[in-house]
Amino acid sequence: MSASPLPRHIAIIMDGNGRWAAAHDLPRSEGHRAGAKAVRKVVTQARLRGIEVLTLYAFSAQNWNRPADEVDRLMALLVEFCEGERDLLMDEGIRFRTVGDRTRLPAETRQAVETLEEITFKNGNMQLLVALSYGGREEIVAAARSLAAQASAGTLDPAAIDETMFAAHLTTAGVPDPDLLVRTSGEFRVSNFLLWQIAYAEIVIESKHWPDYAEADLDRAIDTFANRERRFGGLAPALPSAAP
Ligand code: FPP
Repeated sequence: MSASPLPRHIAIIMDGNGRWAAAHDLPRSEGHRAGAKAVRKVVTQARLRGIEVLTLYAFSAQNWNRPADEVDRLMALLVEFCEGERDLLMDEGIRFRTVGDRTRLPAETRQAVETLEEITFKNGNMQLLVALSYGGREEIVAAARSLAAQASAGTLDPAAIDETMFAAHLTTAGVPDPDLLVRTSGEFRVSNFLLWQIAYAEIVIESKHWPDYAEADLDRAIDTFANRERRFGGLAPALPSAAP
């Protein structure tokens, strides 16, 4: 199978805001603020490169365990992002959506994301998915629970459950799976991100901290992807045979 030149869907674990802040002798909140600026750059570049879907891991289900002050500042930053980047998303024709448990979000953050989702609903150039209060295991459990409820109500034959039906019960229903997963700050973990969806994603680990991530870094990750050989569990192409 030949290498795919451009990923349709890029998912990014934006890690290292805290380490970036520490390295600059700044509070963690300034690391997140600098991270939000990097988000703008990467969204713009992904659109320029013709990426269909960009998913950013902004806040995990487990991040609720961080100190209240950090959580509050992140939630406020998300409101600022939704209000401040509205014109960019409209100018670029980008649809904004969130995935995750929005019932846990503070009212102001929830309102801001829902407003941006409504305003950008018809934009068709790219989808920006922001994972907020998101956990891959939590998402899989919710899908299983929903299917089990239908089965116990007698409206679904368990034998009819297949991968397509299961995927349709995830919050990413209708979105192609990520082809490329990028994680910054040099960590080799998937941290409960899109566990079902990344089954065949190519993974690129970037040593830079997220606030330093910029357009050229995304380009480099896309180039790396283009040079990977994706086999989806199939066989590697036969090596060229030696000349007789
Ligand atoms: C991980 O770094 C980053 C986060 C938990 C938050 C990500 C948020 C942003 C990039 C800004 C807001 C997002 C949007 C979409 C506007 P960390 O704090 O775990 O860093 P560390 O591992 O170095 O401590």
